[in-house]
Amino acid sequence: MCGIVGAVAQRNVVPILLEGLRRLEYRGYDSAGLVVVNGGLQRVRSIGRVASLTEATSAQKTHGHLGIAHTRWATHGAPTEHNAHPHVSRDDIAVVHNGIIENHEALRARLRELGYVFTSETDTEVIVHLIHHHFHHAEHDLLAAVQLAVAELHGAYAIGVVAQDAPHRLVCARRGSPLLIGLGIEENFIASDVSALLPVTQKIIYLEEGDVADIGLLTVQIYDASGARVERASHVSEQSSEMAELGNYRHFMQKEIHEQPRALADTLHDAVIGDSLLPELFGFDAAEVFAHVNAVTILACGTSFHAGSVASYWLESLAGIPCRAEIASEYRYRDSVPNPNALVITLSQSGETADTLAALNHAKSLGHHYTLSICNVPESALVRQSRLRFLTRAGPEIGVASTKAFTTQLAALFLLTLLLAKQRGRLDAATEARHIQSLRELPGKVAQVLALEAEVERWAERFANKQHALFLGRGMHYPIALEGALKLKEISYIHAEAYPAGELKHGPLALVDKDMPVVTVAPNDTLLEKLKSNLQEVRARGGELYVFADADSHISASEGVHVIQLAEHAGPLSPILHTIPLQMLSYHAALQKGTDVDKPRNLAKSVTVE
Ligand code: AGP
Repeated sequence: MCGIVGAVAQRNVVPILLEGLRRLEYRGYDSAGLVVVNGGLQRVRSIGRVASLTEATSAQKTHGHLGIAHTRWATHGAPTEHNAHPHVSRDDIAVVHNGIIENHEALRARLRELGYVFTSETDTEVIVHLIHHHFHHAEHDLLAAVQLAVAELHGAYAIGVVAQDAPHRLVCARRGSPLLIGLGIEENFIASDVSALLPVTQKIIYLEEGDVADIGLLTVQIYDASGARVERASHVSEQSSEMAELGNYRHFMQKEIHEQPRALADTLHDAVIGDSLLPELFGFDAAEVFAHVNAVTILACGTSFHAGSVASYWLESLAGIPCRAEIASEYRYRDSVPNPNALVITLSQSGETADTLAALNHAKSLGHHYTLSICNVPESALVRQSRLRFLTRAGPEIGVASTKAFTTQLAALFLLTLLLAKQRGRLDAATEARHIQSLRELPGKVAQVLALEAEVERWAERFANKQHALFLGRGMHYPIALEGALKLKEISYIHAEAYPAGELKHGPLALVDKDMPVVTVAPNDTLLEKLKSNLQEVRARGGELYVFADADSHISASEGVHVIQLAEHAGPLSPILHTIPLQMLSYHAALQKGTDVDKPRNLAKSVTVE
């Protein structure tokens, strides 16, 4: 989704801005632009990739020591050049913006009456004219103008602002959308995501809700929402510049699928050292929280929601604790009955997903104070706003389709299940030690599943010309079927639906014919015999089955039944193993179709708007 980079330096900032935008590309965007202050404001914008913007800046010899840049993912107004950021008011002031301004129509009407002419359909353009208006009524003080303007905005914003009259001054502000300051030596930066700044600095200040900052070459002054000067701590980011490189892989998604043994080993590292788990894995006061909780509510979106859905089976069956997994964007707007003793878990790869953050805040407003975030980005807003935290160690996930973040979330949720089971007297020491041993063996088992890639690739060739696919699973593998269908549709654009296999005869069986591939997850669990009957129902209607079966499921290939065999059943960790071939299937189907695997159309990596 939209990305911001800004810089004030004694060197030309254009290469810094362009490299920053390139590093934000994975978030998804459809146009890009920048402004540098060099005498006047020099603006360059283009539709499509940052590479086109780079060509345009070198053709126009764009150069300057102060600048702001942006990648735009269209919300208000089509992805056209005139809607691309930065937006400029009367050649004086330029603004880049992430977020959505909800009162933009009222502001637009007022600014029109003041004589401002609008050249785009964006909500952002009201911000730049509003700042311009205040700038000329605040003795040309850019900081004061931004403070006055943001006080009038309703909605979410992270903004970077420059003025042609202030060639060494970068002003920024945030509320509801992330923004951070990067500290350099006699140069400073802003960005919406730390990854944009890693080539120039790892020293970061995270702005808080309502902050406005005035940034020069040597100084950074931050003011809170009331206008009072405040100090915000600086951190050294744990991320490094090299972690997000493609290496020898063709796509980030492929790299990330193959990184899963390493990602799981790193995530589980501190947990599997001994034979007993410590609650402190989830935060210093986790033991106290776990002792009080009597229910679990999991809030998340997309793939993270699927991880939460698997966990709801684990938590109820192994820990005996009532659990509900809910889509964050639904929870935040429905009337729910709060239980102050529930543990509210938010799951997110990015920790920036607007709906998940809003759901957490909604839960807090209902009186929930036992909050835990399981997240892949250590410095994210979600982590900072939760009482307990568990950081998955998947490393940066660049491909829009989430893979290693999902399996590491599952590993974290399984640890949590064991800890809550122990707390509730449902886990004896021997069983705990056995589960920990299975977790130690998990990375190796994932590597064995990855070795099936050539077989999966052959199946994918048959999917490339299909319009639709059905995914089936039962019990805790039903969310794995949902995840398989989501992966296939988001990167190959093949329409896919997932059902619990027992539900087939209640409707979806009507869709089954020889042209509908039916992908099935078939673990050797207590539901296997029921699942086998469901598969018969498909075969009887001429449906073609593609079954990922545990070796001890004893499902063999026959006419219309294709089988890829995994190792023997892995008990409760089975969903983690069964998700790997589904990731590979969608990756190879997308390759066959020639889609943009890492940046599928219309999608963004971090969904930072509602
Ligand atoms: C997964 O492949 C997605 N692209 C998407 O569903 C994603 O999982 C969702 O947007 C939630 O993101 P988060 O984990 O960063 O909060």
